[in-house]
Amino acid sequence: MSRAERKRDHIAHAVAGSRKETNGFEDVRFVHTSLPEIAFNDVDISTTIGGLHLSSPIVVNAMTGGGGEETEKINRSLARACQMTGLPMAVGSQMAALKDTKERRTYEVVRETYPEGLLFANLGSEAEPEQAKQAVDMIAADALQIHLNPIQELVMPEGDRDFRGTVERLRAIKESVSVPLIVKEVGFGISHETAGTLASIGVEVIDTGGNGGTNFAAIENVRRDEPLTFFESWGLSTAASVIEARSGANEADIIASGGIRNAEDVGKAVALGANACGMAGRILEAVKSGGVDAAVESINRMHGTLRYLMTAVGAKDLHELQQAPLVVQGSTHHWLSERGLR
Ligand code: FNR
Repeated sequence: MSRAERKRDHIAHAVAGSRKETNGFEDVRFVHTSLPEIAFNDVDISTTIGGLHLSSPIVVNAMTGGGGEETEKINRSLARACQMTGLPMAVGSQMAALKDTKERRTYEVVRETYPEGLLFANLGSEAEPEQAKQAVDMIAADALQIHLNPIQELVMPEGDRDFRGTVERLRAIKESVSVPLIVKEVGFGISHETAGTLASIGVEVIDTGGNGGTNFAAIENVRRDEPLTFFESWGLSTAASVIEARSGANEADIIASGGIRNAEDVGKAVALGANACGMAGRILEAVKSGGVDAAVESINRMHGTLRYLMTAVGAKDLHELQQAPLVVQGSTHHWLSERGLR
């Protein structure tokens, strides 16, 4: 299967629904206050990650690139929805365009559509520093995402199964690019230990990419003669991963992602220590089913709901929301106590 066909396959399966696990936020509850002492109209949902100011904690996470006209149309719609709501947008992996210049169009269209936007370049951890610089230049990116996806590579029939040298390449990339570096998972979560290693080489932003949303083991297993089904329930829930990453990399900013569905998940992720939240599959579904308008409506609704939640908690900004008292129960509590993190 060609790279372009594989990308189209990912879009189809992601939209068809690959979810298997929960994101863990059902285990997180705010402690109610009857004295919030703030006004709804004073609530501020802006945040910063890697020194970049964002008007909202929602980031549209890396999805498509390469793959021709269909991808170009989706990217244009995603960029337009981000422009209308002021959200940052990450493009999908640009390796295809670094190898074949004809593929550049599907990425460049994002900067063309959203010239004033915060855009994140994206490559896999096999990238060399020179390729990282080229990816940033291609879309005049404001940050660079590098994705770690060992489970996806193991399950993909044509996957790359040599993971040696990743930390050294990340260190070299960090030294060679001038924009903030975001290192992300794609649905299996970042542990305390991985976060600690990333922070030790100076990674400014860690994106959890935990369980609960798009499941690349399920997507790639469809193409295997002998599916590795146990990988479909592998990894950390997004809620657990936010706490793990926060404790492993106290100085880094954390993006919670992986199955973020609504404003309640966003609020809980921030209360667990995240600075922002990434959403991929849900936004893609909205664009595929109802176009730009559906995506804009759903993002605006989430912004409104987040303000209600923050008012109830008595948090006038995200910094105060991070201090909100909450209770972690169920299997997330069990996981965190086994790990000595709560
Ligand atoms: C992705 N994702 C992804 N991530 C990445 O870093 N580079 C990429 O090229 C892609 N490609 C891609 C395509 C499609 C169709 C989807 C749905 C997702 C992963 C994505 O950024 C995110 O980490 C996961 O999808 C988990 O988030 P959600 O989908 O559960 O919100």
